[in-house]
Amino acid sequence: MTDATRLRAEHLTKSFAGRRVLDDVSLSVAKGEVKGIIGPSGAGKSTLIRCLNGLEPLDTGRVWLGADELTARKADIDALRARIGFVFQDFNLFTHLRVADNLMLGLRRVRKMDAVEAERCARAELDRVGLADKWQAWPAELSGGQAQRVSIARALAMAPEVMLFDEPTSALDPQSVGSVLRVMRELVAGGMTMIIVSHEMAFIEAVADDVVFMADGAIVEEGPAGQLFNTPHAAATRAFIDGIAAAHRGEATTP
Ligand SMILES: Nc1ncnc2c1ncn2[C@@H]1O[C@H](COP(=O)(O)OP(=O)(O)OP(=O)(O)O)[C@@H](O)[C@H]1O
Ligand SMILES: [Mg+2]
Repeated sequence: MTDATRLRAEHLTKSFAGRRVLDDVSLSVAKGEVKGIIGPSGAGKSTLIRCLNGLEPLDTGRVWLGADELTARKADIDALRARIGFVFQDFNLFTHLRVADNLMLGLRRVRKMDAVEAERCARAELDRVGLADKWQAWPAELSGGQAQRVSIARALAMAPEVMLFDEPTSALDPQSVGSVLRVMRELVAGGMTMIIVSHEMAFIEAVADDVVFMADGAIVEEGPAGQLFNTPHAAATRAFIDGIAAAHRGEATTP
C-alpha cells in the first residue's frame, strides 16, 4: 500500500440469510481521489460502503483506513469510524435535536471539544453548506435538500479523512438535488477523498476519477470515468448505462 491510499478493502464477502451479497469485492481510494459506484438495485452498493465504515459486519475480508485496519480484532472501531464521514440517502439527522445540536453532538462527545470550540466549528460547517440561518431549526422544518446539506455539514465537522455517500440525492426533489450536488462539487474541488454511490450518472461522470460498476455483489468493471461511461468493456455495463440514459429520456426499458 502506498502512503496515498486512504481506504482499502480486500476480498470482502458478505451474505444475508445464506445469500451472497458481496462476493470477493476489493477496492481502494487514494488521497484526494473521487470514486463513483454505480449499478442496479440490489447489486450490493449500500452493503459495500456500509462494510467500509464498519456499519455492517463482514463475513471475510479486510478493510484499512490509512495504515489502520478496521477489521483487526482489536481495532477501536468507534475511533476509526470517527475518521470516516457517512452520508445516507435519508439524511439520518436526529429528529429530536435542533440543527445546532445535530452538528455539535459528535464534536462534543467524540472530538471532546468544549462548547465554544464546538459551536465555532459547527457554525463554520453550516455556513459552508449555505445554511447558517438554520442553526436553531428542527430537522422537520427543513426541506430534503436542506436536511441533506445539514447531514453533510455534520459529517464534515468531524474533519473526516474520507467521505462515503450512499445515494445522497435519490430521496430529493429535483430542485434540492442541485443544491446538494453543488456542495459535493465544492468538496471535490477542495480535494476531499470521496466514495459516491449514485444514480446521477452525469454528476458521477463529471466528478469521479474512477467508476466501479457493480452487479450481483461483484465488481463487473472499474475504470476512469470517461472510459467506463463511453467505452465500457462489459456488455452488462453498457446495458446498465444505456438503460439509465433511456430512463432519463422517458423511454421504457427492459431491466
Ligand atoms: N439487512 C439486510 N438483511 C437481509 N438482506 C439484506 C440486508 N441489506 C441488504 N440486503 C440484501 O442484499 C442485497 C444488496 O442490497 P444493497 O442494499 O446493498 O443493494 P444496493 O446496490 O444498495 O441497491 P439499491 O440501488 O436499491 O440501493 C439485496 O438483495 C438486499 O435485499
Ligand atoms: Mg443502496
